Formats: sequence, structure tokens, C-alpha cells
Amino acid sequence: MNVYILSSAEQVAKNCAMLISSQLISKPDSVFGLATGSSPVRCYEYLAQWYKEGLLDFSRATSFNLDEYIGLDAQHEQSYRYFMQEKLFKFINLKQSFLPNGVAENLEEECKRYDDLLASYGGADLQLLGIGRNAHIAFNEPSDVFSAGTRVVDLTQSTINANKRFFESADMVPKKAITMGIGTIMSAKKIVLIATGLDKAEAIKKTIDGDIDPKFPSSILKLHKDTTLLIDREAATLL
Ligand code: F6R
Repeated sequence: MNVYILSSAEQVAKNCAMLISSQLISKPDSVFGLATGSSPVRCYEYLAQWYKEGLLDFSRATSFNLDEYIGLDAQHEQSYRYFMQEKLFKFINLKQSFLPNGVAENLEEECKRYDDLLASYGGADLQLLGIGRNAHIAFNEPSDVFSAGTRVVDLTQSTINANKRFFESADMVPKKAITMGIGTIMSAKKIVLIATGLDKAEAIKKTIDGDIDPKFPSSILKLHKDTTLLIDREAATLL
């Protein structure tokens, strides 16, 4: 695991955008695994800016997002599809973008369809990840086992609490989501995880120093052959 400590959240965002850009330049038809949440927002702003300046061309690139809330359609302002549209997709010329369909009639089938679709594109060339305070990646919460493929999950109270800032109240946060499994994430050729701030320090310590343990889902990343952690000094406090 390559751990790169930067002096500010701004530098983490810029370095992350640089890694994504370099992937795009070396393989214009790259498949990107993308994340939502607050961590990647500034990185997406850089990508949008560099696209506008004519530095990047996404016209052959494809994206697959990690997760989507169940019960929110693409027009819902808190859906991850809407988030991606507003934060990135509307600013760049991505060839195509995929997210799990959180309002699919048959959710089990939707999970399988999503994994099959990603596999048919050869898997992700670069998977971008944020990390939860409890070391969750995507919506893979602490558990007794590492999950395999895309699946339906119940969100933990801590994740509902962390995400309620985007909703009018905690009651409005969906209780379930579709998420890529740990196996799906690990099948990416390259993984870039970004984390900033003191409240991510414990999760980063568990990711880097701890045992490989499904109680800290991100700890599995130690087994991946090409993972880069871009973190700021605050997130690195406990290392
Ligand atoms: C988002 C996702 C989540 C977030 C994590 C961190 O698609 O899968 O795992 O990456 O909850 O969220 P932020 O970045 O808001 O701290």
C-alpha cells in the first residue's frame, strides 16, 4: 500500500485529480469507479476545471459508482445519481456513467446486473474510494465477513447519522442501499482512497496498521497490489 501524506485537504483533492487525469491520459477509454460523499467533491471540481481548460477529454471513458440509496430515483436531490450529475457529470464529456438503480423492481437482480455490467467492461481501471469513520468503504459496514459482490445492505445508525447532514432530518435518510461488495472493489486494477480530517484518523490507522479484519472493512486494501492512500496530516495523526 502506498501512503502519501499531504499537508492539506486541498492538496489531497488536487493529487487525486492528478491520478485520475493520468489514468485518463494513459488510457482514454478507462473505466473509473467513482464515489460520492464529501471527500471527492473538490477533486471533481478540479476535473471539471481541467476539462473546461481543454486539458482532459472523457469522451471515451466510462464510470461506475460504488453505491446508491434504495428508494430514491435519479431525480431525487439526495440520490447519488443526482449528486454525481450536479458535482461532476454535467461539467464533463464522459461517454457513459452507471450507478445501481435504487428503484429497480427486483433489487437482487439489479445487483447481479450491475456486477455483470462492470465485468463486461473489464472491471474498473481505477477505483476511487472515500472512507467512513468506522472504516467502511462504499456501504460495506463493519461485519463478521468480507462481502463479495454488489448487494443490498442495511445502513448502520452511525452511517445514517453521518449522512443526515444531506437530508432534512435523520428520518429522511434511506435505511437501505445497493453497494458494490468488497470483492467487486478489490477487483479494480488500481485503487485510490482519499481521507482528510481528524475524524478519519482512527479509520486510517486501522487501514494501514491493523490486522486484516472485516470489523474494519478498509483493512482488506492491504491485500490489493496497487492501492494509494492520499491523506492529509490530520487523517495521518495516529500513524
Ligand atoms: C460514497 C461512499 C462512502 C463514503 C464514506 C465517506 O459513495 O461509498 O463510503 O466514501 O462514507 O464519506 P465522506 O466523504 O462524506 O466523509
